[in-house]
Amino acid sequence: MDKPYRTMPDIEVLPAHFPIPGAGFLAVNAFVIKAKEPVLIDTGMGKDSEEFMEALESVIDPRDLKWVWLTHDDADHTGSLQKVLEAAPNARLAAFSLAVLRMSTDWPVPMNRVYWLNPGDCIDVGDRKLTAVRPPLFDNPTTIAVYDDKSGAFFAADCFGAIIQSPVQSTDEVAESELAQGMVGWASLDNPWVHMIKTNEFSQSLERIRRLAPKKILSAHLPPAEGKTEQFLELLATVPPSTPAIAPNQTALEQILGSAGSVNR
Ligand SMILES: [Fe+2]
Ligand SMILES: [Fe+2]
Repeated sequence: MDKPYRTMPDIEVLPAHFPIPGAGFLAVNAFVIKAKEPVLIDTGMGKDSEEFMEALESVIDPRDLKWVWLTHDDADHTGSLQKVLEAAPNARLAAFSLAVLRMSTDWPVPMNRVYWLNPGDCIDVGDRKLTAVRPPLFDNPTTIAVYDDKSGAFFAADCFGAIIQSPVQSTDEVAESELAQGMVGWASLDNPWVHMIKTNEFSQSLERIRRLAPKKILSAHLPPAEGKTEQFLELLATVPPSTPAIAPNQTALEQILGSAGSVNR
């Protein structure tokens, strides 16, 4: 985990970064919205659980949380979910039904605390409305990103992620070419289906975000990005017809392990 920081007047980032061998880093962010009914969005990676709880407690007393919004049930988003629900007895778990059911095969999700949301559904958290949005790119069918109508922030889940060279607190600190390459590469690798759909169909889902016109994009896998929505949408529009990213194979792994001096055969 990295040190939490404030990215908007009432929004805190609980940041971590995950090294991608030979490529750079992927941010793994969770967020706290200090709404009238405070909301935690996602719960980081399990390997960071102890640090995650400390980071959370440094920005809010978990007993004050009223909502935990799970964007999807991938492990880099559910890492501290059980611990958070224990520490935040007044919080309800807002999530897509299938995410909750799938997690229930692994641990007893307290169903009486669950709030099921589909894309388009909203929750009122006292001083703002949070709307569940299916982002243009998603690597998990349970994905519900979040649009906050008070701050104008769009919590994009895995969409708009990018592998970058070093962890930073704003995409303004990332060179434009690095950001473009990192975002297109991540989009292709994390969403191979995007190469199977028609460009104009994909454009429609990008258009929905354009109409939403978020002030800030808060992706789980990118430093916060202000005033870059159009740039990002144009970048993603290039992905469907592009050459699909190729994931590293065994030869690459052996090179990585070899350079780390620990090849086992
Ligand atoms: Fe994911
Ligand atoms: Fe993710």
